[in-house]
Amino acid sequence: MAATSLSVGLIGLGTVGSQVAERLLNGLPQLNRRAGLELCLEKILVRDVAKPRAVTVAPALLTADPAELLDNPTIQVIVEVAGGDEPMHSYLQRAISAGKHVVTANKAVMANHGMQLLALAAEKNADVYFEAAVGGGIPLISTFRTDLQANRIERVSAVINGTTNYVLGRMSADGLPLEYAVREAQAAGYAEADPTDDVDGFDATYKLAILGSIAYEISVRPQDIYREGIKGIEPVDFRYARELGYAIKLIAHTQRHPGRVEARVHPALVPLDHPLAQVEGADNAVFVEGDLVGRVLLVGQGAGGRPTASAVVGDLIDLARSIRRGVQHRPSFSFDDRIGVIPMGEVETRAYYRIRAEDRAGVVAAVGQVFAEEGVSISSFIQKDAWVEEKTAELVITTHPTADMRLQRARQRIAELELVRAVSAFLRVF
Ligand SMILES: NC(=O)c1ccc[n+]([C@@H]2O[C@H](COP(=O)([O-])OP(=O)(O)OC[C@H]3O[C@@H](n4cnc5c(N)ncnc54)[C@H](OP(=O)(O)O)[C@@H]3O)[C@@H](O)[C@H]2O)c1
Repeated sequence: MAATSLSVGLIGLGTVGSQVAERLLNGLPQLNRRAGLELCLEKILVRDVAKPRAVTVAPALLTADPAELLDNPTIQVIVEVAGGDEPMHSYLQRAISAGKHVVTANKAVMANHGMQLLALAAEKNADVYFEAAVGGGIPLISTFRTDLQANRIERVSAVINGTTNYVLGRMSADGLPLEYAVREAQAAGYAEADPTDDVDGFDATYKLAILGSIAYEISVRPQDIYREGIKGIEPVDFRYARELGYAIKLIAHTQRHPGRVEARVHPALVPLDHPLAQVEGADNAVFVEGDLVGRVLLVGQGAGGRPTASAVVGDLIDLARSIRRGVQHRPSFSFDDRIGVIPMGEVETRAYYRIRAEDRAGVVAAVGQVFAEEGVSISSFIQKDAWVEEKTAELVITTHPTADMRLQRARQRIAELELVRAVSAFLRVF
């Protein structure tokens, strides 16, 4: 007999979970019509059942016992919007092993264990949906999986972490130091109390691992991705970057090369006329290049309870439709593990150096000699502000593309020059 309802167990009732519950409890006639099945929110797992909630739910729906969802045979799908690697990874594994479908917004679990969960799901004839794990409400996974599937994806470049984009935007607009801008982002609700995941680039790395894996159908693990956060950038870098025609963004970039891919997350100078330079505030943007479609730009709110719930509930409806039709809706994922990630040192990049040096004859020649010996060709060279009493000046240099290891070696060698006080900033140019 054809299914008429879909019983849902929800894990998490926080920022995203309360919006998902709200939509499931209050938007049902329309959702059910689209799903073709009656969606029934049966149980909600939280840590503390007594905590006040942003959404009104019957107390009987709440539990703090995972077994009430995971071992409940009537629950057919687990919607996980709790976050963190463990115990959620184990919960999802347990759910799939029991033949339940999964919808998750958990980037850490999908980046670290996505392959295994998808393989297990294929074995158990269950589906795993994870649109909300990357880019909040922006339809990315479904775009790769359906609309772009005729393409060979050549590259994906993204501003994929709203918190750092907000912070860099504030530093750029008002000359705020990083720590002030982070505090402002926390006050505005864009940054967590502990901003490490965002500021150090972990969040963007998880998302790039998922995007890269889906785009190329290979295994891109977070630990294979080169990662640098935004610490160390100073307000003056935005001023110099602007003078040179660039904005500064935290960029997640992956690109196909013969037999390998590059995958990296780091701050970069982005030309002001590039679409990624124009992404404002906490928005996200993903720029995709496919061999048939050419360039596609997807922009939107990459976080927030409502946009993320839009992706979660959209996945749930998609799943319900496939169940109603009695089909495994999604083509199963296959990942070619022979294709690896190129070490950062071998990647061709350009760089921006801000060097504090003694304002004396011979500095420019010494710096130039290091670049020449490392085979790095200079694209622009400007001598900036001088500190007369300290007899120092700032040199701002950008390079042409070179293997990144040469750029990094030049950075180290310049810092060791007798006439140089410090290489105060070293950023890639996109
Ligand atoms: N917030 C966003 O803008 C956003 C955007 C995209 C993706 N996501 C992802 O969505 C997920 C949820 O994020 P969120 O911002 O909604 O988090 P949140 O506000 O901190 O809410 C987490 C919820 O999960 C519950 N929970 C956490 N650990 C649990 C455990 N071990 N057992 C049972 N329940 C547990 C919490 O229960 P209590 O309420 O009882 O503490 C809380 O209700 C994360 O994976 C996040 O990365 C979030």
